[in-house]
Amino acid sequence: MFEKLTPAPPDSILGLTEAFKQDPNPRKINLGVGVYKDADGNTPILRTVRMAEERLLASEKTKSYLPIDGSPAFQRATQELLFGADHEIVTGKRAATAQAPGGTGALRVAADFIAATMPGATVWVSDPTWPNHPGVFKAAGLAVRTYPYFDPATHGVKFEAMIEALRSIPAGHVLVLHGCCHNPTGVDLAPAQWRQAAEIVAERGVMPLIDFAYQGFAEGLEQDAAGVRATCGTGGDILIANSYSKNFGLYNERVGALTVVASSAEAAQAAASHVKLAVRTNYSNPPAHGGAIVSAILNDAQLRRQWEQEVTEMRERINTMRHLFVETLNEKGVEQDFDFIARQRGMFSFSGLSAEQVKLLRDKYSIYAVGSGRINVAGMTEANMDYLCEAIADVLRATQG
Ligand code: LMR
Repeated sequence: MFEKLTPAPPDSILGLTEAFKQDPNPRKINLGVGVYKDADGNTPILRTVRMAEERLLASEKTKSYLPIDGSPAFQRATQELLFGADHEIVTGKRAATAQAPGGTGALRVAADFIAATMPGATVWVSDPTWPNHPGVFKAAGLAVRTYPYFDPATHGVKFEAMIEALRSIPAGHVLVLHGCCHNPTGVDLAPAQWRQAAEIVAERGVMPLIDFAYQGFAEGLEQDAAGVRATCGTGGDILIANSYSKNFGLYNERVGALTVVASSAEAAQAAASHVKLAVRTNYSNPPAHGGAIVSAILNDAQLRRQWEQEVTEMRERINTMRHLFVETLNEKGVEQDFDFIARQRGMFSFSGLSAEQVKLLRDKYSIYAVGSGRINVAGMTEANMDYLCEAIADVLRATQG
């Protein structure tokens, strides 16, 4: 059987990390995968995560299974982070949350849930979107289509075209929105645009699925939830897949959640029972450790305050790098306008670099970016900025004649 197989292509993002690790160049820079780096180029364990782990080591009494949908303390903390503690969705029990192995795990459970409960649903993703989105939905047997989103001419959202497309999506289909820090472009909807989009999809009976992987990385934990909360304002059914990989730095613990919001507590429970079926037939029940860390921090006032400070530090460092990157490119005599990079949000920017330029950066300078031109700003440091901008200036000169 296996002799007949031709090798599958490497993953467009995680495949880069594999190639990066094998590159012997000491000056190499990885701007590929969305992983935060500190000023020294390390991906640190957050101080609050260490403290929570110490507490868990001392207090944990069992490694027995979690429930299919995970720990109740984690579920509650997740809902409070998404909606705010006093939100009517939380107090009225209109939401049900399942702890999941990362944001990707949550998306796959959502995909299986949609395939099982919404016959004929097509999933609509932004053009462009995270390259793994279509793969995850198609793996569950769902059809995937795109709606216009990014405008390369303005480096902003093509909002009119997007709205027009939303008005043509049939009832019973699913619309994937990025909660904040759109991946790969770094360009988000403004609050009024969120409200308009949410109203249109609610009117049409289209279900929003919000992929919320970067809460805290754009403006702040509360501010970044504005899109999610605006969408909830319509009272319709919603799915939210959130991740704790980035804002807790818990990448390899695989912790995230899928939250179902329904119009009543009964409907939320009914939906949750189908989510549990999807989990049980996939990975049975979630890994415990990452979720236990998240809930230890979110449910302790002091640890939570310190964690919020750590999220602020990460966000501010990324924003500092955005500005330094633009300034350093200017210093290197780059004429092409990169000012938009300073306005984009989160880890990623669509740099506008072509596939050819990305390849040259990698071949000549060992600088790794995604083929689409997406760069991870969190991979930049004061120490590598000069080399990076020099290389980009050289590549632009070489390819622009
Ligand atoms: C990314 O887009 O780089 C991250 O979300 C990591 C991943 O799984 O692709």
